[in-house]
Amino acid sequence: MENINIREYNWRCNYHFNPPFGLINDPNGLCYYNGYYYIFFQWYPYGCKHGLKHWGLIKTKDFINYSKPEIVLIPDSWFDRDGCYSGSSIVKDGKIQVLYTGNVRKEDGSRLSYQCLATIDEKGELKKHGPVVENIPQGYTSHFRDPKVFFYNDKYYFIIGAQSDSLKGRVLLYSSVDFKNWEMEGEIETELEDFGYMWECPNYVNIDDKDILIFSPQGLEEEFRFQNTYQSGYIIGKFNIEDTKFFHGEFKELDKGFDFYAPQILKDHKGRTIMIGWMGMADEEEKLHPTIDEGWIHSLTMARELVLDNGELYQRPLEEMKKLRKEEFSVEDIVFDNWKDEKVSGYSYELLLVLEKYKSEGFEIKLSLGNNEYISLKYDFIENIIILDRNNMSYGPKGIRKIKLDKKDSIKLHIFMDKSALEIYIDDGREVMSSRIFPKEGSKNVEILSKGGQGNIKKLRFWPLQGVKYNG
Ligand code: FRU
Repeated sequence: MENINIREYNWRCNYHFNPPFGLINDPNGLCYYNGYYYIFFQWYPYGCKHGLKHWGLIKTKDFINYSKPEIVLIPDSWFDRDGCYSGSSIVKDGKIQVLYTGNVRKEDGSRLSYQCLATIDEKGELKKHGPVVENIPQGYTSHFRDPKVFFYNDKYYFIIGAQSDSLKGRVLLYSSVDFKNWEMEGEIETELEDFGYMWECPNYVNIDDKDILIFSPQGLEEEFRFQNTYQSGYIIGKFNIEDTKFFHGEFKELDKGFDFYAPQILKDHKGRTIMIGWMGMADEEEKLHPTIDEGWIHSLTMARELVLDNGELYQRPLEEMKKLRKEEFSVEDIVFDNWKDEKVSGYSYELLLVLEKYKSEGFEIKLSLGNNEYISLKYDFIENIIILDRNNMSYGPKGIRKIKLDKKDSIKLHIFMDKSALEIYIDDGREVMSSRIFPKEGSKNVEILSKGGQGNIKKLRFWPLQGVKYNG
């Protein structure tokens, strides 16, 4: 690899969260407390590998100004000594009540899993209270983790990722009246009997009277779906908490880019369902990230709002993101073969595009173009397949990801570029593709090509985006 001068150019994002050093993965414990959104996350601070996991924290009132990242939960107790694994939180008795998985490995290599309680008071003081669930229920393996707590009808509940003895992914439900004594209610019964070997990081939310179960199944493969090593998706339907039965439709993936996993949701004080994901994947490819040379790896996604429209789930960048916009550039109704403009260029920007078929068969958008490299986003109006292609980049993992869309004569793309993080919202967030990319310095141009005849840029709006701040 070429010597990269990190002082002049680096891949640190401007409005996506990256760790100052070390490795981050899942967002954890999302809650709104005393005027701040608390965003905890899995953090191994001492290197770029999946080592002993701590919990880090950033806080924000507005998703623009954040506190400096700090370590809040340390694996220094008998019940979490091999990692403070993922978990969630709820505000109760004036404190943040955190439930997380204490990971413990025995000498023989086998694993124990404790579901532990910690509280954080208004002074920010954290107190560990130890395990509230010590045992793994009969019929399940020690892959038992990631409790997500919620309150419903005078009772506290958590759902937790599990693996049955026959090595099938499952979600179990527990309940408690006092938050200390927890009882197993049962397995959430779905129609997904044989659907991967482990379900991690479950989330439950009700939006507009529909119940949504989000989880991250491991061990699925198909052509247009499940292209990553691990998946994250959801089912929508009706959850009967009394008998733990979930009647639902098809499992759908939340994000079809290269880097998205283990999202967590939060219902905020305004009633919004906000979701943040880990923009990463624990597989061989993460070792190819060039930021390892700079001592850090991975990112969180932008915060997104989940909304239902006509029974379908859409993801929208949070309203707050608009505050990052700088001067707007826009054009409309441009018939084109090949379009570019020097104003539409940069490392951190938002690009909104409506492309119409007109006389074309499809188009290709080149992003991060320069130095003989680019990211390609192609769509064809015949097969209706969208392809994101990283093969023409010099650094980082390569490959393509594709989505089959419904037939149509125009497509809407909302693209968020942020140095090494790219999020593409398709058709108002009906589909999303999130990916890490590692352009060289100067690879920052955009070009739109029409294939097989002229296309029409119905609408193009572009804003350079300013960065968020970590102020302490
Ligand atoms: C998901 C996950 C969780 C676990 C955590 C450990 O990425 O494997 O199941 O709690 O990461 O960091």
